[in-house]
Amino acid sequence: MKELTEKKVFPPPADFQQKARIKSNDVYEEGKDYKKFWEARANEMIDWYEKWDKVLEVDEPYYKWFVNGKLNASYNCLDRWIESGKGNKLAYIWEGENGEVRKFTYKQLYEEVNKFANALKSMGVKKGDIISIYLPMIPELPIAMLAAARIGAPHSVVFAGFSAEALRSRVEDAGSKYLITCDGYYRRGKILNHKEKSDEGIEGLDLKKVIVVKRAGNDVPMKEGRDVWWDDVIEGKSTKCEPAVMDAEDLLFLMYTSGTTGKPKGVMHTTAGYMVGTATTMKWVFDVKDDDVYWCTADIGWITGHSYIVYGPLANNVTSIIYEGAPDYPSKDRWWEIIEKYKVTILYTAPTAIRLAMKWGEEWPNKHDLSSLRLLGTVGEPINPEAWLWYYNVIGKKHCPIVDTWWMTETGMHIITPLPGVTKLKPGSATFPFPGIKAEVRDEHGICKTGEKGDLVITTPWPAMLRGLYNAHDKYIEEYWSKYGFGKFFTGDGAIVDEDGYFWLLGRLGDVLNVAGHRLGTAEVESALVSHESVAEAAVVGIPDEIKGQVPFAYVVLRQDAKPSDELKKELIKHVSKVIGPTARPSDILFVEDLPKTRSGKIMRRILKKLAEGSKDVGDITTLRNPEIVEEIKNSLQR
Ligand code: WTA
Repeated sequence: MKELTEKKVFPPPADFQQKARIKSNDVYEEGKDYKKFWEARANEMIDWYEKWDKVLEVDEPYYKWFVNGKLNASYNCLDRWIESGKGNKLAYIWEGENGEVRKFTYKQLYEEVNKFANALKSMGVKKGDIISIYLPMIPELPIAMLAAARIGAPHSVVFAGFSAEALRSRVEDAGSKYLITCDGYYRRGKILNHKEKSDEGIEGLDLKKVIVVKRAGNDVPMKEGRDVWWDDVIEGKSTKCEPAVMDAEDLLFLMYTSGTTGKPKGVMHTTAGYMVGTATTMKWVFDVKDDDVYWCTADIGWITGHSYIVYGPLANNVTSIIYEGAPDYPSKDRWWEIIEKYKVTILYTAPTAIRLAMKWGEEWPNKHDLSSLRLLGTVGEPINPEAWLWYYNVIGKKHCPIVDTWWMTETGMHIITPLPGVTKLKPGSATFPFPGIKAEVRDEHGICKTGEKGDLVITTPWPAMLRGLYNAHDKYIEEYWSKYGFGKFFTGDGAIVDEDGYFWLLGRLGDVLNVAGHRLGTAEVESALVSHESVAEAAVVGIPDEIKGQVPFAYVVLRQDAKPSDELKKELIKHVSKVIGPTARPSDILFVEDLPKTRSGKIMRRILKKLAEGSKDVGDITTLRNPEIVEEIKNSLQR
């Protein structure tokens, strides 16, 4: 830990701070009375049909925010901008993988949403019906979400890259009678037959309607009476559909996520608190201004896309980029080309993408003018200081603050994050809880001492917090409230608070090893490995050891100019020992071409662990972006 906290601190650049929306620490003072703080945000960020009677009502472990308030999420994302003369501003610039462009002003997006909302109504969709949406990164995805929200039908978006089985279990669990899907979409120049996959997923399920967007034009079978084309159902529909007046605590959406068991859990987010939380963090953490062009590279099928491509940006009248395809298609500078083309000012992406770009080399970003960028962000996993510095130097050209935002599906909004005009950044630390939020690092004995590892726990309720797990009350209690009791939300992440009060996230606790009685975050070892000049990316898992209980085993992807050798292996092991200490020494290192990753870019350490333990069955690999790598790793382990 020492070597991290001694590194350089990056205060906000003077010109950034001068123009920033939030420039001083006063907001943390204001946040001390958190109910008052969030009430003020609810007043300033959201338009209400009726205000609340009470800011917060607690019936542990259930929480209600802005009790009896009435609002509509789609109204807050669309109508109010048109009513205030901001309807001609671009809401979305969509770029297809093949270079097609579709642009939507707020007015145009409003019209599309209204037409589709009317179409849903005409098909019999009622307030409270859960609509499943299985679409790739095309404009119809946010349009469908907002149309559902407009008429009070909660949505459950299933990431398009997920398998047929994953779709099936989610549609079944949500009890959806309506599914929105598409014919196909492009990935690295090829058309993926999405309709076939969704048909397989819903086979035998009793669905009333399946609405199919025509994206790729591939030939697909349509089931008589059930399947209808999107274009046909919106044909002739009015561009006006009165938004439903929703209660603050009406369900806005379900988002399925994996927990400690194999079965995905349906995280519930309701309307008012979620809107207040995402709109506020969008404005403060990304410091959004009228002329910003913002790009979050996540998929809308994940919570990051829900909160920071759809609801957060639209509730702030922001212009966003949506990109359909892969970062390396047709070449490894596609992202940087998009930034130059649209003069993107704020980029929000994942550490894994940064490490990949690092591996490909700076020549790719250096081909493009990235001077429009003024703020960078990361999310999804701990960022190792080396990747942070590369992002800062090569992409941000040393003048863009980086907001490393820690949060999760369950929190709905940023929880631990810098405020870019205020916070002195330390590379690799997500810094401090957002104003109005308290968090601590603890274990069974109490709050951990400075520099000691423990569980990250959130000790104040926050507006966008999950309201439970769909049809799974016991699981909700067990996952989040059983370890430390009500009032102390157990995140499942390990963390350390340093002597300046900065939070350092260590990854999921499952990724925390115990080596001869010493707790060790796999992320720490990975970070140490990546700090070596030959290493592009690393994944570390714990394997059983007779003497020490567990020891770290490392998978390493080398940079293009480095060659695997026994000497290098020894050197890396020594390097880790030097950076963290001898307990962190990997028992072995395997050089690999790539790591198994989910479509959202998360390294699947569960699979790597099984492989390292020599297990033949590594479990489900259908949600991987690169399932073929599993066989390759298996083979090299046997060699
Ligand atoms: C991890 C994604 C370190 C963390 C929004 C959390 C992070 C899990 C960060 C949630 C960060 C997310 N630093 N770790 N800035 N952001 N995580 O539900 O382990 O897909 O528990 O939500 O991602 O993943 P989820």
